[in-house]
Amino acid sequence: MVAPDENSSVPAQVPAQVPAPAYSLHASPLGEGEGSAGTVIAAVPVLVEDGELVLGPGAAELSDLVGVDLLAVLEHHADVGVDSGTPGEVHTHATPDHPRFAAVALVGLGSAEPEDFRRAGAALARVVKDRDTLLTTITGLADDAGLRAFVVGLTLGSFEFHWRKCGAKAQPVRRVVLAGGPGRQSVLDKAIAVAGAGWRARFLATVPSNIKNPAWLADQARTAAGEAGLKVQVWDEGQLESDGFGGILAVGRASATPPRLIRLDYSPRRARGHVVLVGKGITFDTGGLSIKPGEGMISMKRDMSGGAVVIAVMAALKALGCPVRVTGLVASAENAIGGDAYRPGDVIRHYGGRTTEVTNTDAEGRLVMADALAYAAAKVKPDAVVDIATLTGAMKVALGLRTGGYFANDEALADSIASAGACAGENFWRMPLAEEYEHKLASKVADGDNGAGSPGAITAALFLQHFVGGLPWAHLDVASVGDAPEDYAEWTAGPTGFGARTLLQWLERDDPLKGVR
Ligand code: BES
Ligand code: MN
Ligand code: ZN
Repeated sequence: MVAPDENSSVPAQVPAQVPAPAYSLHASPLGEGEGSAGTVIAAVPVLVEDGELVLGPGAAELSDLVGVDLLAVLEHHADVGVDSGTPGEVHTHATPDHPRFAAVALVGLGSAEPEDFRRAGAALARVVKDRDTLLTTITGLADDAGLRAFVVGLTLGSFEFHWRKCGAKAQPVRRVVLAGGPGRQSVLDKAIAVAGAGWRARFLATVPSNIKNPAWLADQARTAAGEAGLKVQVWDEGQLESDGFGGILAVGRASATPPRLIRLDYSPRRARGHVVLVGKGITFDTGGLSIKPGEGMISMKRDMSGGAVVIAVMAALKALGCPVRVTGLVASAENAIGGDAYRPGDVIRHYGGRTTEVTNTDAEGRLVMADALAYAAAKVKPDAVVDIATLTGAMKVALGLRTGGYFANDEALADSIASAGACAGENFWRMPLAEEYEHKLASKVADGDNGAGSPGAITAALFLQHFVGGLPWAHLDVASVGDAPEDYAEWTAGPTGFGARTLLQWLERDDPLKGVR
């Protein structure tokens, strides 16, 4: 952990990070690894070919190694688990007498699409918890996209966070040996970077708000910047004041831990354009004086999920060889309550001068985002801006809890986001920037009103649109998918890190700005 920000009260004691699995490649992984009995799991794939269940590569070798007819095991369990080779179904067969392997896992791989690999990896992650080593031939069947999907599923399905006296409930598998030659090392390295970004975003969002405040988040950004060789700049409350960031200051005013604006810069040689990413970094959202009911406040430590995604993405760009310049901005404040809190009826002046009448202090996200977007348009002047925020509860009503929503004023950018999301295993649905609701943003005294009301996700997006200075822009509202109520595929109950994989999938392309006006 780096030295805490001088102007803040960052608690010294922080939860320990649980380590993610470590990966290596081996041409024939099953023969690998010392590992004593009970600590190694060997996994082979089950596929459906012409309607028949078949065991994939490594099965015959493994049958010999453990002295078990795995085909017979599969047939015997035809009524359970891997009955149809369903991706994500795992049947484990204990091998108690074997000197090395604790168990053999038969893993459903469906038709071996990337999605199947992701699910298989995630399912396997749960089976191998608390084991030392996983050896698997599954990736012998994978193309590059499949290998990445498997590593992402296995890593993120392993995600753990704890702050318990006696350690984590379960530990991710320590070591994973994958089938694959040395020629695939670069594919593996990129997969680890993408999975690591998802992990980091989840970690940041899971840390409780008695530790996580704007200065703490800025320290985390500094750490990430140090690892990835990014330039970093942090505005404290004094600098925010002198530069006119009225939205961020108003929202953060009542908190004992003052707001911050974080800027990270990734600048590759011969950059093919410049993108700004903006993330919402509300480290806790009480709703302010327009206070949230207790129930609605429980998960609000993760109202900085968009900011976490921006930090995590920035930290992974170099490893993915992203060809464009990227500037990450995180507008961070705690929306607290106190005698100094901003009030309904207050008028605030954003960066650049546009004013907002605050009719609801719980619509704080758009106030901090507006400042950062206006700064991006005025000072950074990129070719495109993409923002990500847990902005509106309305998104949950519109899309449920497994699909993220996005808005865009540029068709090429819109298509890029959707296709990158589909590849990365994060589904986004486009929402309309419906002009017919623009009148709802009108205020009697200011340029805009922050509590324009229903349709909530759309009026929030329309509010933000005023600050992007006409740049090509996409707005990702991930309130619907920021938090998983339970384990599901590669999601673990709690923060999902949703959006990190999509943005990286987009930004690592040869020409992310292709077709963008
Ligand atoms: N952080 C919330 C949005 C949210 C709600 C995220 C539930 C995740 C789960 C945001 O700041 C908020 O409170 N939005 C209000 C806006 C309204 C007051 C105009 C909302 O959506 O209710
Ligand atoms: Mn709010
Ligand atoms: Zn919020």
